[in-house]
Amino acid sequence: MNSKNEAFMTAGAAQGWAEVGRNHPHESAILHVLGEATYTDDIPEAQGTLHAALGLSTVAHARIVSIDLAPVLSMPGVVAAYTHKDIPGTNDCGPIIHDDPILAVDKVEYVGQPVFIVVAATHDQARHAARKAVIGYEELPAVLTPEAARDAASFVVPPMRLTRGDAEQAFANSKHVLTGKLKVGGQEQFYLEGQISYALPKEGNGMHVYCSTQHPTEMQHVVAHALHYPSHAVVIECRRMGGAFGGKESQSALWAACAAICAAALKRPVKLRADRDDDMMVTGKRHCFHYEYQVGYDERGLITAAKVEMLSRAGFSADLSAPVATRAICHFDNTYYLSDVDIRAMACKTNSQSNTAFRGFGGPQGAIAIEYIVDEIARNLGMDALDVRRVNFYGRNDEEGRNVTQYGQKVVDNVIHELVAQLEESSSYRARRAAIEAFNAGSPVLKKGLALTPVKFGIAFNVTHFNQAGALVHIYTDGTVLVNHGGTEMGQGINTKVCQVVAHELGIPLVRVRASATDTSKVANTSATAASTGADLNGKAAQDAAATLSNRLRNFAAKTYGCGVADVQFADGMVHAGEIITTFPDLVQKAYLARVQLWSDGFYATPGLSWDRETMTGNPFGYYAYGASVSEVVVDTLTGEWKLLKVDALYDAGNSLNPALDVGQVEGAFVQGMGWLTTEELWWNKAGKLMTHAPSTYKIPGVSDCPDHFNVQLFKNRNVFDSIHRSKAVGEPPLLLPFSVFLAIRDAVSAVGEHRFNPPLRAPATSEAILDAVEAVRELVEPA
Ligand code: MTE
Ligand code: MOS
Repeated sequence: MNSKNEAFMTAGAAQGWAEVGRNHPHESAILHVLGEATYTDDIPEAQGTLHAALGLSTVAHARIVSIDLAPVLSMPGVVAAYTHKDIPGTNDCGPIIHDDPILAVDKVEYVGQPVFIVVAATHDQARHAARKAVIGYEELPAVLTPEAARDAASFVVPPMRLTRGDAEQAFANSKHVLTGKLKVGGQEQFYLEGQISYALPKEGNGMHVYCSTQHPTEMQHVVAHALHYPSHAVVIECRRMGGAFGGKESQSALWAACAAICAAALKRPVKLRADRDDDMMVTGKRHCFHYEYQVGYDERGLITAAKVEMLSRAGFSADLSAPVATRAICHFDNTYYLSDVDIRAMACKTNSQSNTAFRGFGGPQGAIAIEYIVDEIARNLGMDALDVRRVNFYGRNDEEGRNVTQYGQKVVDNVIHELVAQLEESSSYRARRAAIEAFNAGSPVLKKGLALTPVKFGIAFNVTHFNQAGALVHIYTDGTVLVNHGGTEMGQGINTKVCQVVAHELGIPLVRVRASATDTSKVANTSATAASTGADLNGKAAQDAAATLSNRLRNFAAKTYGCGVADVQFADGMVHAGEIITTFPDLVQKAYLARVQLWSDGFYATPGLSWDRETMTGNPFGYYAYGASVSEVVVDTLTGEWKLLKVDALYDAGNSLNPALDVGQVEGAFVQGMGWLTTEELWWNKAGKLMTHAPSTYKIPGVSDCPDHFNVQLFKNRNVFDSIHRSKAVGEPPLLLPFSVFLAIRDAVSAVGEHRFNPPLRAPATSEAILDAVEAVRELVEPA
């Protein structure tokens, strides 16, 4: 034993020992690398397992006149085929509004809508057979764009509006006013593991479904309703997902329900695993947004009035389009105080996939609009955009009178001034701006661009009651610990963080703590692991359970060793009770023999939240996470090709639970957000069929798209809000960081016109979009 440890042991203090705030690898990292991590499709199949496939609509909008499944049933290996008529309970998988049939009834509303299920001996047999149905359609007019839906007043939920102050009056008083339009495309979640559910019928009309889902409780409800079973007869289990990104929050329900319907009907295990093309044809994506805006500002670039209308492509049903629109409205301010605003959002009903959650959940779509606008103000005034941003930042404190959001929440934790100042300095922003100007002056074809963009992101579900979580902590008599909580692991590292919290609370090394699969029969009535709240909520719930146990064991140790409760300390697997030192397993063993309960539940409900859906005001967020990034690009103005040269990002993870995991989340979110804004293009043909339904036509970023210089740092901070160990959420907010990539591209394009004109750049900024913007600038420079 080295002297340092010895000194520590004799001092008997927990000083300096911690399992939180340290870099630990992801709890499954080694299993991931070895290929030993069990995903739903890796679970050994039970005897008699059958495989299902979905039969999909081939038209965008039609009445179903006839369905002939005889050719399907005569295919090799086919056991059964089912339509909506075979669903014993409710034919619905809509998470909020019940407008989402599991299987189409008398009409289809998009190309790819499931009409029937076929069950066969193998996966391939089921897929081949699914193509053989003869369905008669009587086609109806289809609404294929958000604009067409708006013009037809076709919405999935009533339009929303949030106003503060008097925008019209403020426009009249504004020195300058600009107007404009912007289109930002949607995005496919592109989780590596596709949608999958494996349903096993249990005795006495029970159903156990292994499901790749962010929301086991919701899956339990949908399956129970579809089968007309009580909730206690349905168990949903998810060990991990191979990525989810919001795409398995509500949209795993269709697959869970279909697998369960077949399993219940046949009394045999049934697996439904989506092929990539089917997955992309069937499921919803990030909503594309179209904006029309009007903004007033003064000579310093201070925004004095803002009005925006946001149209989103909801698809054929509501799904989560209403809360996505709400979050967009609540993030239109980003880091800026907007005194007089008028924000409208319309979730447009179109004949396409029902769009859903995707990392950021409307927040990115809200904030990108104001960043695009600030960029225009700067160009109009001939200022550096960073200076315009700074003028508009929320105030540092109350006295400045500029720290209340448009929805009425006071911003009490604003660190954007300090964070941006630090990044401006560390990235040599000003020097690089000058160097780029010099480069562009001597480079007629290749143009460089630079942008620094900030992020503020509200943490919590807008809907207050979702902000609750539960956990179970079991200590076994060998001193090892098993944790079960309501959160789901999708690669983000929630299990690692929750285990760290429990290890820390019990004073034992992380290796002694293991997390079990998420399971609705263990922790009940859970919320989706979403809105970046997973570690916040479940970490607190697990801490609550662990604290109950640690207090119990502390009292037991004090009684056993005859010291004060305050003199009992747990650290690094050791127990210090006054003068006595023993091991944690030894104490646990003694406690068991003395009949002390060695397991506990825990619960957490985020305090202080409120939200009024009617007035769109309240305190929807516990706190805000902040960040900023600087990106530098070079654009070939003849081909539209571009390259990301350098990224510096600074993110506020508060008192990070695990800096290594958090940096990984920032890097991943950055690259994913960059894909959304640059290469990932969803394209539907004139008949409303999604043509980009595979990686051959839909381009997500690759390893080579990471810049050589990709410098991600965490901002030194401590959450003002009493979050788990004062950390901050990290799952979604960094997806907004690559706004700087998009605006750096726009900056490079604007160099074509010496920054005198605002390039009309749409997102994704594909090479085609870049060339269109270059062309538009050239025409402004030299009108034809
Ligand atoms: N990271 C990985 N590796 N895979 C994912 O699917 N989903 C993101 C984010 N990070 C995701 C991810 C989304 S959409 C959310 S809401 C959060 O993780 C959810 O997890 P958390 O709340 O535990 O951060
Ligand atoms: Mo994340 S979009 O909230 O699942």
